[in-house]
Amino acid sequence: MSDTARLILEGQEYEFPVLTGAENEKAIDISKLRGTTGYITMDPGFKNTGSTQSGITYLDGENGILRYRGYSIEELAEKASFMEVAYLLIYGDLPNAKELDYFNDSITHHTLVHENMKRFFDAFPLGAHPMGMLSSMVASLSTFYPESQNPNRDITDIDLTIHRLIAKIPTLAAQAYKHNVGLPTMYPKNNLSYVGNFMHMMWGVPAEEYEVDPIIESALNKLFILHADHEQNCSTSTVRVVGSSQANLYSSVSAGVSALWGPLHGGANQAVIEMLESIRAEGSPLQSWIDRAKDKTDSFRLMGFGHRVYKNFDPRARIIKKAADEVLGQLGIDDPVLDIAKQLEEVALNDEYFVQRGLYPNVDFYSGIIYRALGIPTDMFTVMFALGRLPGWIGQWKEMTENREPIGRPRQVYTGATHRGFVSLNDRK
Ligand code: SDX
Repeated sequence: MSDTARLILEGQEYEFPVLTGAENEKAIDISKLRGTTGYITMDPGFKNTGSTQSGITYLDGENGILRYRGYSIEELAEKASFMEVAYLLIYGDLPNAKELDYFNDSITHHTLVHENMKRFFDAFPLGAHPMGMLSSMVASLSTFYPESQNPNRDITDIDLTIHRLIAKIPTLAAQAYKHNVGLPTMYPKNNLSYVGNFMHMMWGVPAEEYEVDPIIESALNKLFILHADHEQNCSTSTVRVVGSSQANLYSSVSAGVSALWGPLHGGANQAVIEMLESIRAEGSPLQSWIDRAKDKTDSFRLMGFGHRVYKNFDPRARIIKKAADEVLGQLGIDDPVLDIAKQLEEVALNDEYFVQRGLYPNVDFYSGIIYRALGIPTDMFTVMFALGRLPGWIGQWKEMTENREPIGRPRQVYTGATHRGFVSLNDRK
């Protein structure tokens, strides 16, 4: 089979190399297209456009496959700790015992944030959306650690910045939560696991010793792993593009937090629960909601359904749906919203519109139900997604930096006014 692609433009034939990935995916390398033909390509939303060659995560949307550095998501979710998966995504291999101890120890000893940051939280209005607080606070970390702004990116600076960011983001997330519930900030405790420490800072109070519930710790560990990376999704591409200008890691990840906030992306987990609550409150038949989702004149979409890549099933949704049953069972919670979600899935997956378009539940459809059962408020759901996604953002940023990839700067087709002379104010109609 030819490893070149031929293009005929205005009667002239051009050849472009074909790239073949580790899993035999094919791409036409058009990096010389404009230079040789004067043409660019057009692909709104980059649905058919590869931005990089990456060795971190492999997705097969047709077969519902997700692997981090070759390990299946099913195995990692079942057998690994979130810290092992974070190390895997960032450094390329599962850590041995010594490496994991060093990684855990380094992160444990960077969990405190500068006391001045408390004043930032005090300045936010009560009820400020935690994603708005988180993106601001992550960006402000760069001002406390100016060595992170070093564009030469000395490897030791990068590693220190990576460990600081992984260590501090749960502290900042918990502070955002405590700001809105009006409870005192809890300082990190070094004798707890990464997930256990987050739980302690979220739900602990000074008056008593917080007991880490192993059921919740295990559920959060699994949820963080399931969200840890997803190749070139919207927020990861944002982190890469911002980082490609040699902006520091904190600022690049802060941009990723902002991109994730959108309801079409990570914000969908909040939108799903709000949708299910509306369905429950209104009590109208599920089919009427399905009909609305299909109606092009209606802005309503079935949140948590559909995916740019997965066109059969999202493997993460399957794992989370099973975990939702387990966690609610273990905690003795009977949440009618879970039943509505399952019935809605059943109705949708028997509807031609959804089947024909390959619209299945995605990672966000069931995750909110578990977060709710764990006592996490709805406006913190996307913060939970960000905590999970952080190692993926970092690994992708590090890969882009080490490969010295060029600054991201797409071209356009101009459709505005052609040249015209200036008209003075008095002569304008
Ligand atoms: C995440 O990219 C990633 O990897 C993201 C993510 C990650 O881990 O980083 O997996 C996390 O963001 C998951 C997605 C969460 N978003 C939602 O659940 C919001 C609802 N879903 C969508 O809006 C939509 O499905 C997207 C945004 C997820 C994907 O959109 P695409 O690929 O741009 O597809 P599209 O909008 O062009 O839709 C194709 C067709 C359209 O109909 P037609 O024009 O063909 O008639 O499907 C329809 C759409 O109208 N459609 C839906 C729908 N999603 C798509 N119709 C009703 N309800 C929906 N949810």
